Amino acid sequence: MTQHAHSPLPHDLGDGLLLRRSTPADADTLAEINGRLHADPPAIFDERIAVWTRDLLSGNHPTFGTGDFTIVEDTRTGKIVSSLNLISQTWAYDGIPFGVGRPELVGTEPGYRKRGLVRVQFEEIHRWSAERGELVQAITGIPFYYRQFGYEMAMNLHGGRIGYAANVPKLKEGEVEAFRFRLVGEADLPFLAEVEAYGSRRWRVTCLRDATLWRYEVSGKSPGNVNRLEFCVIETAAGEPVGVVGHSDGIAWNRLGTMLVELKPGVSWLAVAPCLLRYLRATGEQYAVRDGKLFEGLGFWMGADHPLLQITKDRLPNLCRPYAWYLRVPDLPAFLRHIAPALEARLARSAAVGHTGDLKLDFYRDGLRLAFENGRLTTVEPWTATRDDGGSVGFPGLTFLQLLFGHRTLEELQAAFADCWVDGDDARALLNALFPKQASSFWPMA
Ligand SMILES: CC(C)(COP(=O)(O)OP(=O)(O)OC[C@H]1O[C@@H](n2cnc3c(N)ncnc32)[C@H](O)[C@@H]1OP(=O)(O)O)[C@@H](O)C(=O)NCCC(=O)NCCS
Repeated sequence: MTQHAHSPLPHDLGDGLLLRRSTPADADTLAEINGRLHADPPAIFDERIAVWTRDLLSGNHPTFGTGDFTIVEDTRTGKIVSSLNLISQTWAYDGIPFGVGRPELVGTEPGYRKRGLVRVQFEEIHRWSAERGELVQAITGIPFYYRQFGYEMAMNLHGGRIGYAANVPKLKEGEVEAFRFRLVGEADLPFLAEVEAYGSRRWRVTCLRDATLWRYEVSGKSPGNVNRLEFCVIETAAGEPVGVVGHSDGIAWNRLGTMLVELKPGVSWLAVAPCLLRYLRATGEQYAVRDGKLFEGLGFWMGADHPLLQITKDRLPNLCRPYAWYLRVPDLPAFLRHIAPALEARLARSAAVGHTGDLKLDFYRDGLRLAFENGRLTTVEPWTATRDDGGSVGFPGLTFLQLLFGHRTLEELQAAFADCWVDGDDARALLNALFPKQASSFWPMA
């Protein structure tokens, strides 16, 4: 692959290949390529992915520009042979916002694979993400592959529970539904945002949406976009809104998938759950008739820690293990400084309250020194272990990211990696205080 200076695109990659940015004129071609390359099973064409691609290139996406796909074109045939994109968004860590670049729709035509075309495009979008000031890149992707570009599987992705139509509780004789469901309208957007934000406090990491992004979620995506959710307000029979639900707008794998259910403070999950299951079952049955598909059950993908899934273990009997987000933190000191208030708050609630001292993290090839003074994180700087000073804790590879994002405890990492070690009680206590395990579950901007 020809090396090129870090100048704006296009770049000549050699062998007749050109790396350039997308334009709206690429929409139909990219939709065809993505619908074909990302279909699951591969034999079919996934129109829902094609619709998503066209939406991204429509110019209407609040955080995605029409030039935000990279494209490798074979100038000898004029065909696009590889492509991916970067969807910018804001996430929060314990409520502290940070910019994220989300690569998606990564694909290369079979005849052009294993020639480094994705690698060169990742180098490009990593530069874009840095220019946008994004501290983290995050991707949901095929097993192992993205580790090669500096990513670690460091946070739960989806997972949840599945139930079947027969598991949905029936209304008792003479009983009437206590709650009803209606599609979210423009006037409901503030309620939707407020209830979602309230529920999100239980997670370590969340995705933040302002009014524009919520409007895009509710009314900006085209029907059939694989990432489009249908949002409903849950309200009492008297019309008082008590919660929100976001489910997919079609059947996939014979199931109706739900990504979001949140209730406002003071509303019982036990009271709402049976009604909600009946509503979703009826909706799945309607979609099946509408789309000529088979409907067998309900999937809830908010992670098994979600309160609804904690109280529906018989009704949703299949537990689905989560997959994982790949996360990349190119400037770890900058990220740790950014989230310092969260770390200081945890320290203040711990046995190490008001701590003064160093915590030295050895990543084997490099490392970090965190200095605390009276409970404040005053310094985060590069540090390298020496013969005389091996540091406080060792993490092979990028495994520290699993601790940072609440994915695994220090003890779990030590059980999985024999070269993850900790030097004594004080370091262990500090690390456990600073980085407790905590789930995250949200659906990202797409
Ligand atoms: C996965 C896919 C995108 C790889 O594209 P590609 O252009 O072959 O990727 P690259 O050649 O840039 O890969 C970079 C490195 O990963 C290796 N690699 C390629 N495919 C791989 C795979 N499936 N698993 C592991 N490593 C792989 C390459 O050999 C290369 O290694 P090197 O840099 O050490 O030489 C392509 O096979 C594809 O489009 N698959 C179908 C769609 C898909 O699964 N997309 C990913 C969705 S998340």
